[in-house]
Amino acid sequence: MKTFSLAKPAAVVIGAMALVGTVSLAGAQQPREGERPQPRLADLMQGAQVGHIKLWFAGKAGNWGLATYETKQLKTRLEDAAALYQSLPVNDVTTMAKPLDAISAAIAAKDRREFVRAYGELTAGCNSCHQSVKLGFIRMQTPAANPFSNQEFGAGKK
Ligand code: HEC
Repeated sequence: MKTFSLAKPAAVVIGAMALVGTVSLAGAQQPREGERPQPRLADLMQGAQVGHIKLWFAGKAGNWGLATYETKQLKTRLEDAAALYQSLPVNDVTTMAKPLDAISAAIAAKDRREFVRAYGELTAGCNSCHQSVKLGFIRMQTPAANPFSNQEFGAGKK
């Protein structure tokens, strides 16, 4: 019977870990003990992209509980981005507050028309920052289809 040897794969894994170690040492600042590692800006933005999609479908479905939740998630992510990456243009961060507040107000009033209007303003805010940091090729728009088929967006239980 052939015995299963771990020797080679383990060496490969350790080698790979050492490589990862050097790469991260050279790159980002190391988190102190008990501190969480700093998220990459692109990861925060991908989270914002998810929130932007989910917010739209929650609002469209009139699931105001979920819409409130996603608005908070989006706001927190943008605040984290601004706090962690202070090179981001301050104006473009603070101008996001207005459409986010308008969305919150539309949600509180359960006003779908106002929600749609404020959502357009929010999306324009995403794009205006991307333009001002020379990333105008990252263009957000109102999502056409919902990629999150494993989540029910309709208003159900609270
Ligand atoms: C204050 C400026 C600013 C605002 C506001 C902003 N972004 Fe970004 N966004 C950036 C920057 C800078 C990057 C590039 C990040 C990187 O590559 O390190 C980026 C990248 C992205 C990316 C590409 C990420 C990837 O890896 O594919 C997406 C998607 C994105 N943003 C979505 C959004 C959405 C959605 C909003 C609005 C809800 C938004 N952004 C608002 C500055 C901003």
